[in-house]
Amino acid sequence: MTLTVLDHPLAADLLARLRDERTPPDLFRTLTRRLGWLLVLEATRDLATDPIDVPTPLETTSGQVITERLVAIPVLRAGLGLLDAATDLYPDTVVGYLGMERDEITLQPRDYYAKLPPMEGRRALVLDPMLATGGSGTAAVTHIKANAGPKSISFVCVVAAPEGVKRLAADHPEVPVFTAALDRQLNDQGFILPGLGDFGDRLHGTV
Ligand code: PRP
Ligand code: URA
Repeated sequence: MTLTVLDHPLAADLLARLRDERTPPDLFRTLTRRLGWLLVLEATRDLATDPIDVPTPLETTSGQVITERLVAIPVLRAGLGLLDAATDLYPDTVVGYLGMERDEITLQPRDYYAKLPPMEGRRALVLDPMLATGGSGTAAVTHIKANAGPKSISFVCVVAAPEGVKRLAADHPEVPVFTAALDRQLNDQGFILPGLGDFGDRLHGTV
């Protein structure tokens, strides 16, 4: 499995402000969307293209058009924060939804909603900001593989824990992970350290 950690001052700046507990939900949403652009750009760096001829006002030159289409799949609720980044950058992206809720005690994911479009030939971007134990992430990928076969699947998150990366690599070794940070560890409640707290609550103002 490949793990790509964003290496850009803008990503570092946005992440630092997301981590800050004083950041209110309206700003948290804006920062998430902006960081999402960087993550989605990185996750689509190798999209397939075809060469084309482009008539400039002066002469004809060569260019590239993207031929590979996307399906963005935010994992509810927190993944909604990254969805606009995918559709801003690639307006012809189709969107599917997966609802996953992690039990606070057992840390096991419960999947409560799924609405996936046809995905043949598309690259699926699974959008879930926190890869903690990896339970939700691996369940999301399993669900997508079982129900609708995209051409490939990439996992896009904001913060990953080593435990989650290990779990995803074991269960779905072909799925690359793109993140803004690989943090230190999980605490006893399954929260990422240093992390940024409960992403879904901070994004939706439900703390
Ligand atoms: C969060 C997060 C992931 C999951 C990660 O969702 O968005 O889906 O936890 O934890 P894991 O890797 O240990 O499974 P949560 O269950 O809090 O739901 P929410 O997005 O609705 O707040
Ligand atoms: N989910 C979150 O929102 N935050 C964590 O630190 C772990 C799981």
